[in-house]
Amino acid sequence: MDMIDPFGRSISYLRVSVTDRCDFRCTYCMAEDMAFLPKKDLLSLEEIDRLCTVFIEKGVKKLRLTGGEPLVRKNIMYLVRQLSRHLDSGALEELTLTTNGSQLSRFARELADCGVKRINVSLDTLDADKFHAITRWGNLAKVMEGIDAAQAAGLHIKLNAVALKGFNDLEIPEMLRWANGRGMDLTVIETMPMGEIDGDRTDQYLPLSLLRANLERQFTLTDIPFKTGGPARYVQVAETGGRLGFITPMTHNFCESCNRVRLTCTGTLYMCLGQNDDADLRAPLRASEGNELLSDAIDEAIGRKPKGHDFVIDRRTNRPSVSRHMSVTGG
Ligand code: GTP
Ligand code: 5AD
Ligand code: SF4
Repeated sequence: MDMIDPFGRSISYLRVSVTDRCDFRCTYCMAEDMAFLPKKDLLSLEEIDRLCTVFIEKGVKKLRLTGGEPLVRKNIMYLVRQLSRHLDSGALEELTLTTNGSQLSRFARELADCGVKRINVSLDTLDADKFHAITRWGNLAKVMEGIDAAQAAGLHIKLNAVALKGFNDLEIPEMLRWANGRGMDLTVIETMPMGEIDGDRTDQYLPLSLLRANLERQFTLTDIPFKTGGPARYVQVAETGGRLGFITPMTHNFCESCNRVRLTCTGTLYMCLGQNDDADLRAPLRASEGNELLSDAIDEAIGRKPKGHDFVIDRRTNRPSVSRHMSVTGG
């Protein structure tokens, strides 16, 4: 029995933020001084597994672990291992994660061993000093080690870069050549107004239509129907033989084909990344041993899934459209 929302969209993709904590402090994502969700409100890994399992029974085919940084959650491989039974049974088509890469060298092999085939690694620059500047706490060499380890373990990697004016816009051609040259796709993302940060998003915001026009001066880009299940639209790059994806929440809304909901580490379900409406699943999860209450709560929540987000970045607005940070839901 599939989950269908009020707009006829089938919900087959669950994103699970296993922690809102992170070992980086990317300037577009977080303030330097962040308040995190209280530890006492955290779901246990067993509870997350139970929740995911109910979603899978209700038609979820693709499950992505996010954060914060998912690999900093204590004992995270226990959860991955548990969830991998749904790959074995065929109920789940894809188990994957989005990571900043800092811990990948440690976990790559085990992830591959659990049936993970493909991961997304966030990487906004190839320059070590700039990397340190944008992540505040990150170390590029460590992430590169992680990427190497993941490729050596046979994991396919897609790189995610948030396109930031005056920061990495001129570097995207080099990143594209590098990524495609190593057999990785690259996806560029428009920065979204989520949560208070220390800087000004208006200064950083780069519409990807502009970036694409610039890239087309040196690359031949052909739109292709290739899909990965997320919001990216891809082009084939003739010069590199690889792919480039565009995620354009600001300039081109993709909400009409939205197939996903997101669960936080405290058991809150957000039906849209860009809206505040949520549903508490922790109470029904803990209220009984059976899953009936939970299943009803999920149905009720899907029945309230909004049509889409209405993000705005401009000087007049100058505040986040959504007050929670991206790290609460992991995108
Ligand atoms: P694939 O499975 O490779 O297609 O990945 P994905 O794009 O679904 O996931 P990923 O974690 O790599 O997300 C990339 C970017 O897309 C992040 O910045 C997310 O915040 C953004 N994103 C994912 N889903 C949505 C969505 O429903 N709405 C908006 N506005 N952004 C989204
Ligand atoms: N806008 C767009 N992307 C963001 N990310 C984090 N914060 C933002 C934001 N405000 C990206 C990360 C990562 C993905 C999960 O979300 O770089 O690739
Ligand atoms: Fe951490 Fe990802 Fe946010 Fe950077 S973008 S601070 S790596 S959660």
